[in-house]
Amino acid sequence: MVSTTSFKTTKSQEIFSAAQELMPGGVSSPVRAFKSVGGEPIVFDQVKGAYIWDVDGNQYIDYVGTWGPAICGHAHPEVIGALHQALDKGTSFGAPSALENVLAQMVIDAVPSIEMVRFVNSGTEACMAVLRLMRAFTGRDKIIKFSGCYHGHADMLLVQAGSGVATLGLPDSPGVPKSATANTLTATYNDLDEVKALFEQYPNEIAGVILEPVVGNSGFITPVPGFLEGLREVTQNHGALLVFDEVMTGFRIAYGGAQEKFGITPDLTTLGKIIGGGLPVGAYGGRKDIMSMVAPAGPMYQAGTLSGNPLAMTAGIKTLELLKKPGTYEQLETITKKLSEGLLQIAKDSGHATTGGYISAMFGMFFTGVPVHNFDDAKTSDLSKFTPFHRGMLERGIYLAPSQFEAGFTSLAHTEEDIDRTLAAAKEVISGIKP
Ligand SMILES: Cc1ncc(COP(=O)(O)O)c(C=O)c1O
Repeated sequence: MVSTTSFKTTKSQEIFSAAQELMPGGVSSPVRAFKSVGGEPIVFDQVKGAYIWDVDGNQYIDYVGTWGPAICGHAHPEVIGALHQALDKGTSFGAPSALENVLAQMVIDAVPSIEMVRFVNSGTEACMAVLRLMRAFTGRDKIIKFSGCYHGHADMLLVQAGSGVATLGLPDSPGVPKSATANTLTATYNDLDEVKALFEQYPNEIAGVILEPVVGNSGFITPVPGFLEGLREVTQNHGALLVFDEVMTGFRIAYGGAQEKFGITPDLTTLGKIIGGGLPVGAYGGRKDIMSMVAPAGPMYQAGTLSGNPLAMTAGIKTLELLKKPGTYEQLETITKKLSEGLLQIAKDSGHATTGGYISAMFGMFFTGVPVHNFDDAKTSDLSKFTPFHRGMLERGIYLAPSQFEAGFTSLAHTEEDIDRTLAAAKEVISGIKP
């Protein structure tokens, strides 16, 4: 752990300053720019296990895990070893490979709703395609999403989309035509009555409901008992589809995702992050009769030059093999429980009203006394506390997501000692913040 007095980020600042002339905001994706926590982002040099090293040589315990994929720890030797072997055979085929069958079978075996799967290159692509599929299959145009849920940056889904957009204070994005979102209805997360009312208001017009079954993009928010069950029932009653966006929760909340954890089987599921083991990937899948609509089996067009890429498939296969070993999810739960409960206790002891929790390898904490069931509740969090908390942790070698509206991630590489060091840092930082 670095001491705060020796914390220097001179090289990071130089590189980031140059980057700002070269790329919008100096980054390839907005939340990385630290806009909502102030200060400048650190520039990474290397990642390994639970750790990050920046270009100034500072080491951090990482709870972002490249935004989710690094559940086995960064640069796991078995993933890297498999990639070296795959690399010798070439970087892209643009043609069928046996590796796709292997990963497809693993995904189908693991995720209850998935009988057939299509690989793409990102979570955004997966959600964009699943939307087209919902509409193609039902012959209806409207969809329901929840405020604070993020499903990638496709036009139709960029409405009340949580973290990145919220962090930048943009309610929506310019450039998204009204016509693109005209059929996107929004409801409050965990409010089943609002969803029912929308189905009453638009009979036979709604193709389906898409949601994060556990939210990570408004901070960490869990479904209240009965919410997922209710959505399953209401969609079924109205001939509409239920879609779980498990880009974040897939293979993280449980091996079979949130749908396994909560015992609710949607019609379609989107995946990303972990199933690519740190390489660009996404996927959508579900019932065979629905997936058979996808070209070339059916008429719904969707394609991709690099889809099913052999390197991404290899990293995904190895990552799932590691996760499938007995005891992995128990280990993740134990570590995350210790971290989450420790943080909440420290905050309480220092007189701060906080609320938060964890499931498996995902956690969150808000600086608010209000129970957080939706994005509006999340926004009651005191950002004037989150900002110094984030900065203080960074200066003590703990890398947290640079936004209150993001979930935290643990991995199989995090040790009890890492958690102890994290909690020791949190104690110092939180006790220095005025309640
Ligand atoms: C739930 C969810 N869906 C979709 C996406 C978009 O995935 P990607 O960033 O790979 O395009 C994300 C990204 O964080 C996500 O968390």
